[in-house]
Amino acid sequence: MVEEFKVGVIGAGYVGLVTGACLAQIGHRVTCVDRDEDRVAQLSAGRVPIYEPGLEEMVVRNARRGTLFFTGPGGLREVVRAADVVFIAVDTPQGEDGSADLSNVAAVAKSIGSVLAAAPREKPLLIVNKSTVPVGSGDYVSMLVCDGIDEAGGAGEPAEFRVVSNPEFLREGNALYDSLFPDRIVLGADSREALEAMRSLYDPIIAQSFPTDLDPRPKVSVPLVVTDLASAEMIKYAANAFLATKISFINEVSNLCELVGADVANVAAGIGLDERIGPRFLGAGVGWGGSCFPKDVAALRSVAREYDYEPVLLDATVAVNERQRRRVISKLQHDLHTLKGKRIALLGLAFKPNTDDLREAPSLRIAGELDSLGARVVGYDPVAGKAAARLSPGLRVVFDPYEALAGAHAAVVVTEWEEVRNLDLERAASLMDDPGLLVDGRNTLDPDAVRAAGLLYRGFGR
Ligand code: UDX
Repeated sequence: MVEEFKVGVIGAGYVGLVTGACLAQIGHRVTCVDRDEDRVAQLSAGRVPIYEPGLEEMVVRNARRGTLFFTGPGGLREVVRAADVVFIAVDTPQGEDGSADLSNVAAVAKSIGSVLAAAPREKPLLIVNKSTVPVGSGDYVSMLVCDGIDEAGGAGEPAEFRVVSNPEFLREGNALYDSLFPDRIVLGADSREALEAMRSLYDPIIAQSFPTDLDPRPKVSVPLVVTDLASAEMIKYAANAFLATKISFINEVSNLCELVGADVANVAAGIGLDERIGPRFLGAGVGWGGSCFPKDVAALRSVAREYDYEPVLLDATVAVNERQRRRVISKLQHDLHTLKGKRIALLGLAFKPNTDDLREAPSLRIAGELDSLGARVVGYDPVAGKAAARLSPGLRVVFDPYEALAGAHAAVVVTEWEEVRNLDLERAASLMDDPGLLVDGRNTLDPDAVRAAGLLYRGFGR
């Protein structure tokens, strides 16, 4: 029998919603609080305002069975008062200097403090940081909760709460899977009782004993990494920075492959079979984007600089990534020469497939650059098209890939959506200017098939 916890999740954005839905799914009673009343109204009506496969079904299922609730800012006090555990899952946007902006986290910590001041507790409240915060923020949250207690005239007893760092590693598009079947759960805390409580909260996931439709389960049990607060916070940054560096590394190798006449796909396969390296995240192309890698790498660089440490490897990781976007332009220029007046189709605009997220999407940078060079840019995306049109004024957006290709001098595969990978190449060739150029920014198409259809193929490092 699962020990049921009363859980409050503050911030019903991407991370908060996924966390809340999954905790409800494994047997806890969860209330998500968000300051945006519209969002709360939508969620209460069973509509999930973000694109994440399976999330809406899980939210609706748990709301129906009475394990998942939503409330606006007015409900915060009651949620915190009744909760055993409160997750802080508000965003930490990138500030102007690259550092993480903690004002949302700080405001939540203070209001938790003011609730603690008003209502003495039998058991300490567990305050779990799910937002990605710079190393040392656990202590900062404690301090702000104490400030909140003081300001509200409470006794300021630190015994009334414990702070835990519990970073998430979920990928957009795979968030439910990554939450329910994680490679590991990381818990950072400075108190044994907080860790024990967190271990019980996550027991159904650690033991893989919660109900699921997936059969057989992909995992038998999930390892727990128990550590201090600062190390848990560093694990999150180090994981994302490592993956971003791995991609930039293969991109550097792919550029060298082009120079010496090697094929990066074979090189990646060859090095990836070494278990110390591993085969994943060795896909060369236009580089990494999204909401996590750019923000977290920037925040880690900024932390390093605060300590007067020159993060040379992270600087290079970012420089290589920026160069990859520009390589699309040089590849187009190599074959088309001037881009002025040329029609260029961008296939896929979201930062990766199966999401509508355009944050730090390579497409936007490439479209902007092409526009400034006088090209006529047409973009296609099965999901993110409308949002892209708003963000990139020089980009004409269409909702059919063949409409984008009609009359195009070149097409660039920017996001490897299924619709793009399964493109009818013959049809593409017949619609494009002759001979159409195809720049495969994700090395996702078969070069021989593209050439057989009568198109000119340019990949990255192959
Ligand atoms: C990532 C991490 O995977 C996740 O653990 C973390 O918590 C949040 O950041 P996400 O941003 O959703 O998740 O995307 P992911 O699927 O990891 O891809 C990141 C970026 O790398 C994308 O832009 C993708 O296109 C790019 N990528 C990935 C490559 O360029 N090559 C690869 O081989 C793999």
